[in-house]
This record gives sequence, structure tokens and C-alpha cells, in this order.
Amino acid sequence: MDIQIFKTKEELSQSFTAWFLEILAENDSVNIALSGGSTPKSLFDYWAQLREGEVDWNKIKFFWSDERCVPPTDDESNYKMTKEHLFHFVPVSDKNIFRIHGENVPEVEAKRYGDLLSAKLESIHGVPTFDILMLGMGDDGHTASIFPHEIELWNSPDNCVAATHPTSGQKRVSLSGKVINAARNVAFLVTGENKADKVEEIIGHPHRAEKKYPAARVQPDSGNLLWFLDEKAARKLTGKSY
Ligand code: 6PG
Repeated sequence: MDIQIFKTKEELSQSFTAWFLEILAENDSVNIALSGGSTPKSLFDYWAQLREGEVDWNKIKFFWSDERCVPPTDDESNYKMTKEHLFHFVPVSDKNIFRIHGENVPEVEAKRYGDLLSAKLESIHGVPTFDILMLGMGDDGHTASIFPHEIELWNSPDNCVAATHPTSGQKRVSLSGKVINAARNVAFLVTGENKADKVEEIIGHPHRAEKKYPAARVQPDSGNLLWFLDEKAARKLTGKSY
């Protein structure tokens, strides 16, 4: 488990991008699953201001780790956020963007997107495999859109699941645990004081945490798990090695 702690979101974005570019350089093409919520916005804003040519955007196919079940024009949409903070500024062809159709019936879309992943991605042991999978973490320990109150969805035999936000009741479509843990490289991007408790529990006490928090069950088969944290989110991590 590789844990990197940064003073600012800008420094975090710079380091994540350097890591991302290394993987891009090693591959003819890269399939990436983007996370949603607010944290990725600063990364996308950083990518949007990179010099032309710094990233070969044509090598990248964009997918999502989860989506809110709203239309792509809705302010809640992870796709809309990504379009407004990234795709409006960088040359990505529509043919390389595979959004989750939040406007669909959740269970129908979970099946459709799961089948699309099987069709578009290389599978290892029958599980579609991302080259890079970005994840955020909620202050309740959820990741993607698998929440503690529905933690059993993590073990779904399907590639994608229909989920429900515990307080808003908003329906979601999310990757399941088996697809998350099949990814070659998994990176958590977690910032903010409100995440510090769960970060400490999940990194410091993984076996206890994995009983309760989906984010603690992110244990990629590849072993390639990185945490990109700001100092606020890492505040409760002691100096001990993890
Ligand atoms: C979503 C995300 C979700 C997010 C966490 C953290 O659709 O909301 O995929 O898993 O990563 O809730 O969100 P913030 O970055 O907004 O704290």
C-alpha cells in the first residue's frame, strides 16, 4: 500500500498526473475508470490547464467507477462534472468516452454497463480489467457507490450493481468489488478533514474496517493500491509504517 500525503490539492494532482503519465507511457492505450464527487474536480481542472501535447488523450478510453441515476445534464451527474472540468478543455473523442447512462432504469443500466465493460476491456479470469481505477471515499467509508448499509453489493457476481444513497435515497450505478479489485492499478484520491477518521481506520486497522466499510475492501489482486491524500485527510495517520 503506497501512501502519499500532500499539502495542497495542486500538489496531489501533480503527483497523481506524474504517476498516470508513467502508466500511459508504458501502454499503447489506457482504460481508466474515473471517480465522481467533488475531489476529482481539482484533478480535472489541473489536467485542463496542462500544455498541449503533455498528455496523449487519444490513448485514453474513459469510463466511470459509478454514476448517479440522473440525466447527463443534471448537476448531480459525474459525467456532466467531468465534461465541464475536463472534456471541454482537452481533445477527447466521443468514441473514447463511455458514460454510465444515469437516465436509464438503474438495474437495466447496471446490466448494460457491465456487459459493455466485458466487451470493451480485457478480462482476467472472466472479470473486465481497468488499467487505472480512480476512487474517492465518502466520510462514511463508502467508495464508488457501494455504501456501508449495502456492503453486500461489494460481493455481487455482476460487474455493476444498482445501489441507493443511504440518506438521499438517490439511486446509483456502481462497479462491483470484483471489478474494482481486478484493476491493474487502483488510486484513492481523498481530501478533507471529514475523511480523516475513516482514512485512519481503513489504513491503520484494515481487518476491522473491512467488516464495515466498502473502501476497506479495496484490495486489488495486483497489489497496486495507492492513496493520494491531502494533509487534512491524513491528519490521524501516525508515523508508523503501514
Ligand atoms: C460519487 C463518488 C463517490 C465519491 C465519494 C467522495 O459519485 O459521489 O464516486 O464515491 O468519490 O463520495 O466524494 P467527494 O470527493 O465529493 O468527497
